[in-house]
Amino acid sequence: MSDTRLPPGVSGIHVLPADHHDGPWESIIVPQAAKDRLLGSALLVLRHGRALQALSGPPHGVIVLAGPPGTGKTTLCQGLAQVAAMAVSRRGATTLVEIDPHEFPSEMLGESQRAVRRLFAETLPELAARRPHTVVLVDEIEALAVRRSTASFETNPVDVHRATDAVLDGLDALRRACPHLLLLCTTNFLAAVDEAFLSRADLVLRTALPDEDVVAQILRSSLVELATQWPALEPLAADDSLHVKLAARCRGIDGRRARKLVLSALASRPDLAQEPSRLSADDLVAAIDTETAAGT
Ligand SMILES: Nc1ncnc2c1ncn2[C@@H]1O[C@H](COP(=O)(O)OP(=O)(O)OP(=O)(O)O)[C@@H](O)[C@H]1O
Ligand SMILES: [Mg+2]
Repeated sequence: MSDTRLPPGVSGIHVLPADHHDGPWESIIVPQAAKDRLLGSALLVLRHGRALQALSGPPHGVIVLAGPPGTGKTTLCQGLAQVAAMAVSRRGATTLVEIDPHEFPSEMLGESQRAVRRLFAETLPELAARRPHTVVLVDEIEALAVRRSTASFETNPVDVHRATDAVLDGLDALRRACPHLLLLCTTNFLAAVDEAFLSRADLVLRTALPDEDVVAQILRSSLVELATQWPALEPLAADDSLHVKLAARCRGIDGRRARKLVLSALASRPDLAQEPSRLSADDLVAAIDTETAAGT
């Protein structure tokens, strides 16, 4: 469910768990230990955030996923929101709030500082009051928590520094006001995120380009999904040695491009696009070779 009129800076509001949010968590292939840490960090805050406030070093309720483009960061965050919401659902629903950091103007002096303050002091607490648990997703956190030590005063006006200060103050106040709120952040540029913000993160998880084994699994799962529509593709979907052979040709490819390879193969010729059942191993090899040649 999405609200039609959204507060400033908010690009989406959803109520979880919801059936149509199933899928992302399972679709991302990362070591189980990484998923366990993500879910563990999320559940600590969503379930016990208030009790943990009594500790000398309470959690800040911030998780940062950092890594190259197309390595599953946003998808993992969306999936984490759903599985965490399912795990705490006996105690009530979860609001998922999506923030667009680019809606905070930086060109006008004082403007973004005010907008950030409003987000942390008004918008998020109001949204968090709706349900017992809240997960806030901020993609490209480096646009909001700009690293002050390297932000040049020429390209980044004083306002940027003040806006980062406002994020840190806002975060600390939000923690006290809404201990069951979890902030999930992603970035392609960890070095551009403010150090004091990172120091507040309960978990910084780095995602990496998929290795050959993961690419093979992505190819298999793409083919399995297609085979549910076109059963003639079942033999291709079941051919593990073919997936391994194909993955070996996919050097340096990210997860997003790996997911799209099967589609690129289907799109390579009009007859295949018309009749996906005709897809062959040779078509897949050709698509991969074209893709990797284009990417280098
Ligand atoms: N490790 C992986 N396993 C399975 N699928 C993956 C993996 N990494 C990426 N993908 C697929 O790639 C696509 C893009 O993922 P996503 O948008 O989450 O990446 P991202 O890291 O947020 O990228 P960006 O930094 O460009 O925003 C999704 O369809 C996702 O399923
Ligand atoms: Mg993303």
